[in-house]
Amino acid sequence: MSTRVLDLHPAPADLEAVVCQGLARRPRQLPAWLLYDSEGSRLFELICQQPEYSLTRSEMALLEQQAAAMAAAVGHSPAVVVEFGAGNARKVGPLLEALRPGAYAALDISATALRQACAVLQQEHPQVPVLGVCCDYSNLPALPHDPLLRQEPRLGFYPGSSLGNFTPEEATALLAQMARLLGPGSQLLIGIDQPKPTARLEAAYNDAAGISAAFARNLLVRLNQDLQGDFDPAAFRYEAHWQAKNSRIAMALVSQRDQLVTLAGRSWHFGAGEALITEYSVKYSPTAFAALAAASGWRLAHSWSDPEGDLSLHLLAQADSHPTPSAHQP
Ligand SMILES: C[S@@+](CC[C@H](N)C(=O)[O-])C[C@H]1O[C@@H](n2cnc3c(N)ncnc32)[C@H](O)[C@@H]1O
Repeated sequence: MSTRVLDLHPAPADLEAVVCQGLARRPRQLPAWLLYDSEGSRLFELICQQPEYSLTRSEMALLEQQAAAMAAAVGHSPAVVVEFGAGNARKVGPLLEALRPGAYAALDISATALRQACAVLQQEHPQVPVLGVCCDYSNLPALPHDPLLRQEPRLGFYPGSSLGNFTPEEATALLAQMARLLGPGSQLLIGIDQPKPTARLEAAYNDAAGISAAFARNLLVRLNQDLQGDFDPAAFRYEAHWQAKNSRIAMALVSQRDQLVTLAGRSWHFGAGEALITEYSVKYSPTAFAALAAASGWRLAHSWSDPEGDLSLHLLAQADSHPTPSAHQP
């Protein structure tokens, strides 16, 4: 069975506007989705294999162990599972087996990686029709008009603690928008990473092999290609620091010297030591996340944690809906 991928990637002019806006901010900051071109997606796969970065292994193990319990908590076979930022879409496998949904849709900004992930997933789960949607899910007013996505009820799946890329205010708005996208009676299964000792967190986002640094520097390479730039990636040092006040890791490229960069037909001055924030990763305790979910209009229905207490998967339901355990067909 072949898979379809709908292309709703931001147009080049929109990408330019987003980048110019981000570079004009103080501190300079670009949205995390810009990290993911095809090379960025390849480097992220390598990050997941680094010994310091345990999130992917722990979350995958939790999904494998608890998929049946998660399906029971969802209470029915969803018409469609919609995954936000699917990446290689490896994590959804156990859920597709346990839930047997009518269809699966992977949303991701990284077109080449998305096409590949959908093809592999379709081969492994031939019984589930798979649709890819290349888009920025943080700026998606509605799900695309496609017969596969029209069915309800929908289950959202948002693993990888990617919500942490957004500030708590942005995250609240995003979760509320996901509720609107998924529609009445929908649920959302979301993975959330928790605060940990500083040394462990900083090592996870700045691995000894230098893959996290290469991943961040690839952003400059990507900007050079897409917006006719002349960034010298070697002139920027990568840093990842825990900011306790905001409960987040801040990842940044720091200018090594005073320099002038041309990008999108404009000159940009970077002072020595000036930071360009490439990504945040906000960490939420289960209590803090429950408050965030409630502020977004979701009801926390169930939570599962890994044995080490490093991360949790939370099942959220629309505040006015109730699970229907009797309707579940294993
Ligand atoms: C941290 S990776 C997580 C991948 C996978 N979900 C996992 O848990 O291993 C983030 C993924 O989301 C995608 N992504 C990031 N921001 C996005 C956005 N705003 N819209 C769509 N996709 C996005 C990236 O391309 C990447 O595949």
